[in-house]
Amino acid sequence: MKHRLVLCATLLAAAALSLPAAAQFAKPEDAIKYRQSGMALMGAHFGRLGAMASGRAPFDAKAAAENAEIVAFVSKLPFAGFVDGTDKGGNTKAKPEIWSQMDKFRANATKMQEEVAKLNVAAKGGNLDQIKAAFGEAAKTCKACHDDFRQQ
Ligand code: HEC
Repeated sequence: MKHRLVLCATLLAAAALSLPAAAQFAKPEDAIKYRQSGMALMGAHFGRLGAMASGRAPFDAKAAAENAEIVAFVSKLPFAGFVDGTDKGGNTKAKPEIWSQMDKFRANATKMQEEVAKLNVAAKGGNLDQIKAAFGEAAKTCKACHDDFRQQ
């Protein structure tokens, strides 16, 4: 019994650690839905920061910090869904170039993750000017990848 519990805990720990990189999908549509869901969540929380950064919404330091924290975390998730064989299917807008230029695509993802991590630091600091600057840099990384790798 004790051994079984230990094994269980070990497996759970391993699963938690490797989840984003090794997420498994039964069907291509599942992978597509997973990455689109991640992007949609990231977009929703990033959009709330954008509203504050642009003055369309009143600045609320606590809300900004919470949204930036979510964006930083969720930014790690969608890329596990860009597995081989998912260039078609579902209602994907992913361009086939993702798979022929995977190194470039990954570099775009890494750059975005770095910029949203900086945005998270800025948001925790609570200074609106710094948040605006960091938001602008992060938004450029979204656009750069969408321009090259997402259908309009
Ligand atoms: C490395 C490339 C890359 C980066 C960086 C990136 N995206 Fe995306 N994004 C994509 C691709 C590709 C799709 C289309 C996925 C599909 O339809 O299968 C997408 C789709 C989306 C969608 C639509 C999701 C849906 O409902 O189908 C939103 C919203 C989005 N991205 C927001 C963002 C935001 C916000 C950022 C920056 C913080 C960002 N993305 C950064 C590649 C990227």
